[in-house]
Amino acid sequence: MKATIAVLPGDGIGPEVVAKSTELLSVIAEKFGHEFTFVEGLIGGIAIDETGDPLPAETVKICENADAILMGAVGGPKWSDPTATVQPERGLLELRQHFGLFANLRPVKAYPALVEHAPLRAELLQDVDILFVRELVSGIYFGERQEQGDGDSSYDTMTYSRSEVEQVANVAFRAAQGRRGKLCSVDKANVLATMRLWRRTVVDVHEEYADVELEHLLVDAATMHLLTRPGSFDVIVAGNMFGDILSDEASVLAGSLGMLPSASLRADQFGLYEPVHGTAPDIAGRGIANPIGMFLSAAMLLRYSLQLEDEASAIEAAIDAALDAGLRTADIASPGQASASTDEFAAAVIRHL
Ligand code: IPM
Ligand code: MG
Repeated sequence: MKATIAVLPGDGIGPEVVAKSTELLSVIAEKFGHEFTFVEGLIGGIAIDETGDPLPAETVKICENADAILMGAVGGPKWSDPTATVQPERGLLELRQHFGLFANLRPVKAYPALVEHAPLRAELLQDVDILFVRELVSGIYFGERQEQGDGDSSYDTMTYSRSEVEQVANVAFRAAQGRRGKLCSVDKANVLATMRLWRRTVVDVHEEYADVELEHLLVDAATMHLLTRPGSFDVIVAGNMFGDILSDEASVLAGSLGMLPSASLRADQFGLYEPVHGTAPDIAGRGIANPIGMFLSAAMLLRYSLQLEDEASAIEAAIDAALDAGLRTADIASPGQASASTDEFAAAVIRHL
């Protein structure tokens, strides 16, 4: 097949892991007889530096003309002055909103090869295989806000409509049907009005999915249950901010934040694919970033936007094989173990393909 992929490297380690994943996708194209065209665009801090805008119109156009978007990460100390009027992160938020990418899928699984490295006891991690479905274009991220300006107060507002909750709940219930049939909805219904609407709506949507077992957890309790019984969760659905926080917490179960991919989808096949990790300014430019989260995001792109299931599975299997062979980037290496560079790890994955 022919496909055009918009490639947005962004900041920090973004360009390093993105370069490796376009290399990986080119190998896939060659091996499976596809033609992928990569078109690069600016986003985040580098886009501010070069154009003054974290999401230049040119980048939006590139994405509109593509079948899917592959993104690295945005942000960094250079642009994190709290008094700055524009943040790199704005570019990503606008991109998600522009394309209406309301369903953010973040799979988390514990790799047998890494269980020993994880900070939790191995027996707790045995069956960890969770899919987070995070609402991505509403909630407190996009509510009315007032910056502090010269004054001493500011505010953000959290808004959810029934239809916004319904559409993300439908994605989550359907995902559960295709997995182990369990959905946990996370809210703060004991305090927040939006979260009472969230819970009522999820309960109503559940009527169409009688085969899915539904559980509700308050977000504070959920943070604890995620660490005490991680193996019991199948799909977890949450609003924008709670989903953001819980998915970082859950990365501990996978051994490293560097392992986690994500897909941000709307109702058709178009999507944005990015690792859950950020720009990791502390290791940027050193060639030691873990490319797994980025590679798994590329695999999700093949699966969800291009319907290339075999190709996606081939990438996942090659990553497993590289890990099983003992290869580790610095973030997942045991103390004293020699670690692989980004290049070495990527080369091994490509070899295993
Ligand atoms: C994420 C990130 C973003 C978010 C930032 C970079 C805006 O933390 O994708 O989880 O908060 O959504
Ligand atoms: Mg986050």
